[in-house]
Amino acid sequence: MNTLLVFAFLSAGSALRVSEQDENHFESWMEQHNKEYSNKEYYERLQVFVENKRKIDRHNAGNYSFSMSLNQFSDMTFSEFRKAFLWSEPQNCSATKGTYLYSNGPSPDSIDWRKKGNFVTDVKNQGPCGSCWTFSTTGCLESVTAINTGKLVPLSEQQLVDCAQDFNNHGCNGGLPSQAFEYIMYNKGLMTEKDYPYKATEGVCVYKPELAAAFVKDVVNITANDEMGMVDAVGTRNPVSFAFEVTSDFMHYSKGVYTSTMCHKTADKVNHAVLAVGYGQQNGSAYWIVKNSWGKIWGIDGYFLIERGKNMCGLAACSSFPEV
Ligand SMILES: *[C@@H]1O[C@H](CO)[C@@H](O)[C@H](O)[C@H]1NC(C)=O
Ligand SMILES: *[C@@H]1O[C@H](CO)[C@@H](O)[C@H](O)[C@H]1NC(C)=O
Ligand SMILES: *[C@@H]1O[C@H](CO)[C@@H](O)[C@H](O)[C@H]1NC(C)=O
Ligand SMILES: *[C@@H]1O[C@H](CO)[C@@H](O)[C@H](O)[C@H]1NC(C)=O
Repeated sequence: MNTLLVFAFLSAGSALRVSEQDENHFESWMEQHNKEYSNKEYYERLQVFVENKRKIDRHNAGNYSFSMSLNQFSDMTFSEFRKAFLWSEPQNCSATKGTYLYSNGPSPDSIDWRKKGNFVTDVKNQGPCGSCWTFSTTGCLESVTAINTGKLVPLSEQQLVDCAQDFNNHGCNGGLPSQAFEYIMYNKGLMTEKDYPYKATEGVCVYKPELAAAFVKDVVNITANDEMGMVDAVGTRNPVSFAFEVTSDFMHYSKGVYTSTMCHKTADKVNHAVLAVGYGQQNGSAYWIVKNSWGKIWGIDGYFLIERGKNMCGLAACSSFPEV
């Protein structure tokens, strides 16, 4: 009877040999990330953690341009992660149509808006809500406004979560920066983070026009799949919002230039929006410098580098920025 049970357990594929060392590692990770579980949950999460740890170790032993590490997501499977942090349904990325007009001058070989002045706010944390599109939007508008006025003010994601539905945005279930810029333009303003703070959940719209702090005069959509247009925009104008497809190999990114054979390049597959704040090249590979919204403990202090020039993971499918 006992043997039969053990056999059934093993053949279900759920058993993974967990060493004492693994368990110690898990417990120090729990402490580091303030995690607490019920008894039953503890063993489930331990299994997932060890599976993730093995994957990370295998990856780091290989010859890749980026490395992985444990982070705040290491007790989640990718499918749990996707449900909590990415768009559940495809957004209308291909509706972000435009014909981008290049600047007159050439774009520099590299640029990093974080180093050019006080133009980029601190990395924020979207929490368990598919609101990445609001962080990409505020990040871009914050930077464009700072470059044009000299004042860097954190802006409200929650206003976009609560109020921008009429522009095909869906709160914690996704949306697009281009559609959010359209909303801000027609709404005639976006409040500050301080006046309309982030809650990581959908609420009733409580926009106060008298507290509008940032404005959009026009929305520029970069020509679909024209990555050189993105280079021109970031190199000569300002940071640019874009979307791309996050696959399971991205969840534990820690440093280096991310590149993937798992993700697609098409507009219908993108599931996460972020902000390009610069680009460069090193060790023979060209990359984008990208601000994410998963807190400062993820990636390179909240940022990541992704391969440039190949429409990696569809990153050039629907990029945009506002004019203020
Ligand atoms: C690692 O990958 C790089 C780039 O693909 C290649 O040039 C190099 O030879 C590889 N090194 C090893 C030890 O395989
Ligand atoms: C830019 O994209 C938005 C959202 O998809 C769309 O509503 C808008 O018409 C586009 N702008 C232009 C100039 O095509
Ligand atoms: C895509 O656009 C169509 C037409 O405007 C709209 O009916 C649909 O709800 C949009 N889908 C999403 C996910 O926003
Ligand atoms: C380039 O290689 C050096 C040494 O291996 C490494 O420290 C650096 O992070 C690499 N740069 C990028 C952008 O991956």
